[in-house]
Amino acid sequence: MKDAFDIVIFGGAGDLALRKLVPALYRAFREGSFNPESRIMASCHSQEQADHYIENAREALSKNLSPDEYCQESWDTFKKALKPQCLDITQCDEQWHILTEQLNQQQERVRVFYLAIPPMIYGVCCEHLSALALITEYSRLVVEKPIGYDRESADHINTKIARFFPEESIYRIDHYLGKETVQNLLALRFSNLIFEQLWDAKSIDNVQISISETVGLEGRASFYDGAGALRDMVQNHLLQLLCLVAMESPAKFNERSIRAEKIKVLESLRPLQGDDVHTKSVRGQYVAGNINEELVSGYLEELQEPHSQTETFVALCAHIDNWRWSNVPFYLRTGKRMKARSAEIVIQFKQVSHRLYDESAGAMLPNRLIIQLQPEESIQLTMMTKHLQKLDMELEPVTLNLNFSDNYDSFRSDAYKRLMLDAAAGDPSLFIHREEVGYAWDWIDPIIAAWKTSSKQPQLYRAGSWGPAAADDLLAANGHCWFNVADNGRGKVS
Ligand code: BG6
Repeated sequence: MKDAFDIVIFGGAGDLALRKLVPALYRAFREGSFNPESRIMASCHSQEQADHYIENAREALSKNLSPDEYCQESWDTFKKALKPQCLDITQCDEQWHILTEQLNQQQERVRVFYLAIPPMIYGVCCEHLSALALITEYSRLVVEKPIGYDRESADHINTKIARFFPEESIYRIDHYLGKETVQNLLALRFSNLIFEQLWDAKSIDNVQISISETVGLEGRASFYDGAGALRDMVQNHLLQLLCLVAMESPAKFNERSIRAEKIKVLESLRPLQGDDVHTKSVRGQYVAGNINEELVSGYLEELQEPHSQTETFVALCAHIDNWRWSNVPFYLRTGKRMKARSAEIVIQFKQVSHRLYDESAGAMLPNRLIIQLQPEESIQLTMMTKHLQKLDMELEPVTLNLNFSDNYDSFRSDAYKRLMLDAAAGDPSLFIHREEVGYAWDWIDPIIAAWKTSSKQPQLYRAGSWGPAAADDLLAANGHCWFNVADNGRGKVS
């Protein structure tokens, strides 16, 4: 985005803004994609917070960027774009008028209103924007996930914001869609004949989509305990990844075509309800354990609430009932306080139909494609080859490895940077449409309902493990097992 634009971050002094949004804009500035004439208006709860904002933002940058990214000279220029402002979002008072005056100095500019605030005040914030005539034809509204806590509340929020912004000006963020490797997944699928020809139930045995985190509550106890892993991660990030893996090729690379294909996948998800929920889902909660040789408390101690049944881990076995994916299990898994921080999509191909070599040639492992999103962004394909140094025919698995940090000198992907610049530029292709939010909740709601009526407690797992044993049993029931990239290491095969 070369032109200057204005971004108003409501909740500008919050954790998301300081940890992710401001560093992302600074990165954009450093690489020349954020015009220094642009302005970042950050709403603060109090005058004191506004007075210390610049210093807090500087600290947040040095904490969240690597040392080679932070540079004093750039900061001195960048900080001029930061305009902290004390603002009570719920009261349309004098402070709002100051904001109005500031914005109206640049009537023709693109305005991005970023709601980094709780969804229950989205409505009132939009009302004020509208009452003060701040919503111009160049305005965009960016909202964070999760939208609501079920289908009904999501519809309510979406209807409310739709009173003020047309759907094409609403940018619902799922930051996983801004990750480079996630976009690369589409390039991989739809620009390479070799994969697309094999991308179906005839060749693929199962798909695993897994996001493991080592962090716990991170000061978000009240939000997290009301949400749990299913709402916080599966309803959005994991289902979006599933859609990108499973969808048909869109006719065009634009928001409408991509959305239409994603919706078809969501509609084809086999509902998990009633007893199926108990055989096809596992919910877990961590107890104390060691992560990287450090003892960490269990969820209930961290929360200081001994009776919570909120899940910090979920594993699910999903099916997509369509021609392409008939009977292929899609395993979804996510958890906090797991053994390693790792996010990956593992496409496990089927075994070849006829074994050509006798036993002495060794095991024949089926091909596996690993799309790793975190901590490194890479794509690996394991294949069988002949062991070069053996006279006799001996098979050996090798890995074709495309590691982006090996190929690009200063490769550093930043999903928020990408998405904020896309919103400013008016490109909605990596954002989520209202209908997708609704369909995703339609699949999630019955799972939550079945858990609620069940007498079963979440399964306990030790912090620093890969989750409860029941998550292994879920796959073992189909003769499968989780492939943990972090255990197997980059480039290793098993
Ligand atoms: C957020 C969730 O959407 O994603 C957090 O609310 C989670 O609970 C985070 O920690 C994970 O994002 P990333 O990019 O660090 O994997």
